[in-house]
Amino acid sequence: MGFNGVIVVGLHLLFLISMVLANTSKIPTTLEGPFKPVTVPLDNSFRGHAIDLLDTDPRVQRTVTGFEPEQISVSLSSTHDSVWISWITGEFQIGNNIKPFNPEAVASVVHYGRLKSGLTHQATGHSLIYSQLYPFEGLQNYTSGIIHHVRLTGLQPNKVYYYQCGDPSIPAMSDVFYFKTMPVSGPMNYPKRIAIVGDLGLTYNTTSTVSHLTSNQPDLVLLVGDVTYANLYLTNGTGSDCYSCSFSQTPIHETYQPRWDYWGRFMQPLLSKVPIMVVEGNHEIEEQTGNLTFAAYSSRFAFPSEESQSSSTFYYSFNVGGIHFIMLGGYIAYNKSADQYKWLERDLANVDRKVTPWLVATWHPPWYSSYKAHYREAECMKVAMEELLYKYGVDLVFNGHVHAYERSNRVYNYTLDPCGPVYITVGDGGNREKMAIPHADEPGNCPDPSTTPDSYMGGFCAYNFTSGPAAGKFCWDRQPDFSAYRETSFGHGILEVKNETHALWTWHRNQDMYNIAGDQIYIVRQPDRCPVERKQMEEFQ
Ligand SMILES: [Fe+2]
Repeated sequence: MGFNGVIVVGLHLLFLISMVLANTSKIPTTLEGPFKPVTVPLDNSFRGHAIDLLDTDPRVQRTVTGFEPEQISVSLSSTHDSVWISWITGEFQIGNNIKPFNPEAVASVVHYGRLKSGLTHQATGHSLIYSQLYPFEGLQNYTSGIIHHVRLTGLQPNKVYYYQCGDPSIPAMSDVFYFKTMPVSGPMNYPKRIAIVGDLGLTYNTTSTVSHLTSNQPDLVLLVGDVTYANLYLTNGTGSDCYSCSFSQTPIHETYQPRWDYWGRFMQPLLSKVPIMVVEGNHEIEEQTGNLTFAAYSSRFAFPSEESQSSSTFYYSFNVGGIHFIMLGGYIAYNKSADQYKWLERDLANVDRKVTPWLVATWHPPWYSSYKAHYREAECMKVAMEELLYKYGVDLVFNGHVHAYERSNRVYNYTLDPCGPVYITVGDGGNREKMAIPHADEPGNCPDPSTTPDSYMGGFCAYNFTSGPAAGKFCWDRQPDFSAYRETSFGHGILEVKNETHALWTWHRNQDMYNIAGDQIYIVRQPDRCPVERKQMEEFQ
């Protein structure tokens, strides 16, 4: 080996050593916080302009015939022993003279079992259709295929189940799929990985996000609102990145409901196997005639509402091993007198932290975000609910809505607090609207307070800060102390709860390899330092 060869080998060795050191570098924990705020400069290597998949894309085509099932998905019930299987039969109709299907015409049956060759159990469920009606000159109406939801019960924890869904009498049954149940609830039992994503849409960036997310092998997917962005389209299928900019004259905010079917078809390979839990975003409002809203959202997904004593598809709860998840609605009433608030009080009071030490809440519009987009838009919801969540010691909050990534320090009432939740915004799933890039604390970017409320959320609550470094102002003049890390990029997150005190959170950017961490931290609970109002405390007294 010559002198040059020695240098090359030496450089390779140095590279390998640096890689090993990088991989073993210590992952920070929230115990070391609060952290000094970090803003990662914009990395222009991401594909900024997200373009929707065309309706000719093979991945959104209907590949079944007659009443064979399509758009098959799995969702969780409130405990490990039960799941929902959902699917659609019959093609949607769009036009002026559409006749809705009779949902009873096709049965809702699931055959399932522990062995692929022995689907010996059978469950039956219910079916429904929904229509999206626009009685205006020139607009088209939509009516869905038949949507089926079947709840399987009596399942064992941590086990693979095979299933086939459909109507055996036609016969029109699906292929055989499989899913894995969640672990039984308990302080040492957790699924390995939970993927968390928001504002997904159905663009070429969405496909990248879903591909990366799938490669990270999640046991469960949490979608924190804004699903298909069908409301960026007119009923004739013409779309825009900004509905109000392009279609300001329409008599009602139109939608193109086939985008929901495209999304269901695109997602089936993942969701027929990995359960998904969804909470509504503003893009699911989708108003139609008769002031009806949320028809697609409420009809297409199965929710453990009844199982969690909620009477609504907009808020519900469920257990995943030692985690109690609470899904909240930002676009329905949330004040103290509202049904949602009363349900939340009851649900929180019933959480036994000896069984589910982790309490994780999600809803769509973030309370703690320092981006200009949607800045302090959800302030009234924050005013109404923050104290209750704090009182019961919510550990973690996930939001979407803002098309970027941000992780907070532990915070309560805009003040750093070691017992407050960590707030994480992951509205970076890849939809066709623009990314959020400007920050409200940059010169000239602080919005006028009167422009910040969202009419669907109601009220005005975002007044100037009364204390802290931004006292007397509406925006900070630097990255706020509550904001630990912010970066604008498409991506998704993975939550790995390890035990009753430690959970590893990793944010993955689409422009990196799927397993590379963009942001990573151990979220650490301190139950001794942060006692919470909980059932067992009352029982001791
Ligand atoms: Fe949103």
